Parts: sequence; structure tokens; C-alpha cells
Amino acid sequence: MWRVWCESVRYLSVNELEVLISHEQIAGRVAELGKQITADLSGQPVIFVGVLKGAAVFLSDLVRKVQLDATFDFIGVTSYGNPSQQGNIWDSTGEVRLTKDVDRSLRDKNVILVEDILDTGLTLTFIKRLLWGHQPKSFRVAVLLDKPSRRKLAVEADYVGFTIPDKFVVGYGLDYAEQYRNLPDICVVPAVG
Ligand code: IMP
Ligand code: MG
Repeated sequence: MWRVWCESVRYLSVNELEVLISHEQIAGRVAELGKQITADLSGQPVIFVGVLKGAAVFLSDLVRKVQLDATFDFIGVTSYGNPSQQGNIWDSTGEVRLTKDVDRSLRDKNVILVEDILDTGLTLTFIKRLLWGHQPKSFRVAVLLDKPSRRKLAVEADYVGFTIPDKFVVGYGLDYAEQYRNLPDICVVPAVG
């Protein structure tokens, strides 16, 4: 049913989107995650590594709720393949490619990877393998959203903002064809067809 969207992208106006998680709920949960990370790292410095572009908004709010010496960096990844021939534009093909590596060494550092959403797990599995290669001192994963019902590979995050049902969502950094990243709430894109 979502496939229809790939053939011709139609942008919905913001008032056609149903709010799933409000900006107030997001702010409350992000503050809790920041507190939990602060406690877990118990005074040690940390590097947050955000996955472009979806995690940029979450990372910028999360780091301001963490009371530790913190720096941040970004990586970029993309999936191979032509999505329009494969079906859904957000389905990972499983062939993930790095488009931007971290700028600074992660060796012997406490690293927290920050991702917008954990879906099939293909992207996170690739990134985890990649970042472990940098030999960090510790490695944790924080995701704003988790869609466990779509998991193809057994991978979990250490910090999860919200567990959501199998719906396509946008806002607070998440996009549909690069649109809607700046919505303050997490909204559901309705299925069509
Ligand atoms: P995975 O490899 O299937 O776990 O996909 C993770 C990536 O797919 C995320 O980083 C997002 O870029 C994208 N994605 C998965 N579900 C959604 C969604 O509901 N909205 C927007 N992007 C999504
Ligand atoms: Mg992403």
C-alpha cells in the first residue's frame, strides 16, 4: 500500500498528518534519556555520533540534556539501489554504504551512536560493525524511535525514546523524500492505495 508513494511523490500538507508523538512528549522523554546517559557514564567524557541527516534534531536536543564533557560528530550512510524499483523508499536494501566517516578518532573513547529510528536493523548493524572497528572504549546506541515489529536483524538500542507501531513517520528530523524534517512533532504519513 505504501508503494504507491514511490511512483509519484505527493507532499501532504502538515494538517493532513496525524500527530503520533507531540513535541512536549518528545522533550520530556529526551530529558529522561539525557539523565539516564549522565548517570550511566558517571562522570566520564563521551562522544555522540549522529547519523545524518535524520538524527541531527534528536542529537542537538539530547546533548543539551547530558551533564558530562561531551563532543559530537556525524556519520553519513546511504543504501545502494534504486528505491523506486524496489518498493518502499524507506526500505533498506541491506547494502549500506558509508558516505561520511567521523572526523576524529573514536579510539578508547566512550561513544554513543545517535540514530533517528531503528526499523529493520540493517542500517544499525552496518554502523555498529563499522564503529567497533574504531576500537572505542565503550559503545552504546540511542535511538529516538524503535519499530521492533519490522526487525530483520537482531539488533537493539541501549536507549530508546519511544517504541512505535509499524507506521511511516516524519518530523523531528525524520523525512519523507527529504520533506517534513522540521516538524516539531512526530507525525504519521497515512498509507494510500
Ligand atoms: P533500517 O535499516 O531498516 O533499520 O532503517 C533505518 C533507517 O530507515 C532510518 O535511519 C531512517 O532513515 C529510515 N526509516 C525507517 N523507518 C522510517 C520512518 O518511519 N520514517 C522515516 N524514515 C524511516
Ligand atoms: Mg536514518
